[in-house]
Amino acid sequence: MKSLSEKVAAIASSATMDIADQAKRMAREGIDVISLSIGEPDFDTPSHIKDACCAALARGETHYAPSNGIPELIQAISEKCRKENGFSCRPEEVIATCGAKHAIYLAMEAVINAGEEAILIDPAWVSYEPCIQMAGGRVRHYSLNPKTFQVDDTLAEKISQKTRMIVVNTPSNPAGTVFNTTSLSLVADLCEDYDLIALSDEIYEKLVYEKEHISLATIGDMVHRTITINGFSKAYAMTGWRLGYSIAPLEITRQMLKVQQHSVSHPTTFVMWGGVAALKGDQACVNQMRTEFDARRKFLMAELPAMGFEAAPMEGAFYSWIRVPGDDMEIARRWLEYAHVAVTPGSVFYAPGWIRLSYATALPRLREAMTRIANQSEGSD
Ligand SMILES: Cc1ncc(COP(=O)(O)O)c(C=O)c1O
Repeated sequence: MKSLSEKVAAIASSATMDIADQAKRMAREGIDVISLSIGEPDFDTPSHIKDACCAALARGETHYAPSNGIPELIQAISEKCRKENGFSCRPEEVIATCGAKHAIYLAMEAVINAGEEAILIDPAWVSYEPCIQMAGGRVRHYSLNPKTFQVDDTLAEKISQKTRMIVVNTPSNPAGTVFNTTSLSLVADLCEDYDLIALSDEIYEKLVYEKEHISLATIGDMVHRTITINGFSKAYAMTGWRLGYSIAPLEITRQMLKVQQHSVSHPTTFVMWGGVAALKGDQACVNQMRTEFDARRKFLMAELPAMGFEAAPMEGAFYSWIRVPGDDMEIARRWLEYAHVAVTPGSVFYAPGWIRLSYATALPRLREAMTRIANQSEGSD
């Protein structure tokens, strides 16, 4: 066989999915594994959303739709953006996508030329770099100060002649931290001074505790150079529906849309009707899920320091980010093998020495997981 694409060969498979697969394999063998490595809410999709999708299916919404998405969904996204995020967008600046992940892929393809660079703020989610690489670009890594988890002016040192984009993710996966206005303003100033585009991944915006979520596009003139990414997976427990969206200036959106048209065409038509119901329906379901996550967060905020772990401020999403003594890959392997608790080592997010715990797991299981980790840690000393 002739050699395959070197570009794709250079990309790592998704480490978080690999770990989840290993935990599933152990569970299939009858081992009671507690997974704290999962990046999805452990709730069912609210029934009014499922009903809207079923109704759409029943009335025959089973054909091709406009490639940017059904007008009803685009309208609902624009309204939500104005009301909740505090900036305006025209419907033609919105694309409904197959999950936020595909919106990110479209954005990288649309913006980055071969050899250009994007800056990632570490710890960073696993799929940004492969998406940048698939577009032919390269990543420069900037590490957040592990005391503050906020951006400081050393970010400017990462900018080169080739920089095209800065990727921002708040609330953060994996750190569970939230950027304040100072951090966002620093990013905005650099984007404006160096004529860069920002990709602002706000998929966890509904899961913020005590603080407030601020959209990067509301800072200064950033609306003219920000690609805002969002979706339904985390806020509405709709991971399997594969529905997300992007909001970006028209010039960028046109480029992204071409990639969508020639790859997936558009998200599944009847699924998009579920998205309309999610945005226009009662938001009590979102609050209920956030309240449950918050109870688990508070449990971990008390438990982790008592177990001797230093944790990043638990301000958003459903992750806690803890410092571990030693090799995070080895510790994660030990916890899985001996304590039967699956976690994600920080190295996969470019931050060795840390571990991500997902609290998208019911409180009793979370308690049990902490007991197992405590016992394992004692046993190994
Ligand atoms: C930071 C971040 N962005 C984007 C995504 C992708 O979400 P979706 O399910 O909408 O593709 C995830 C999912 O884990 C995520 O954690």
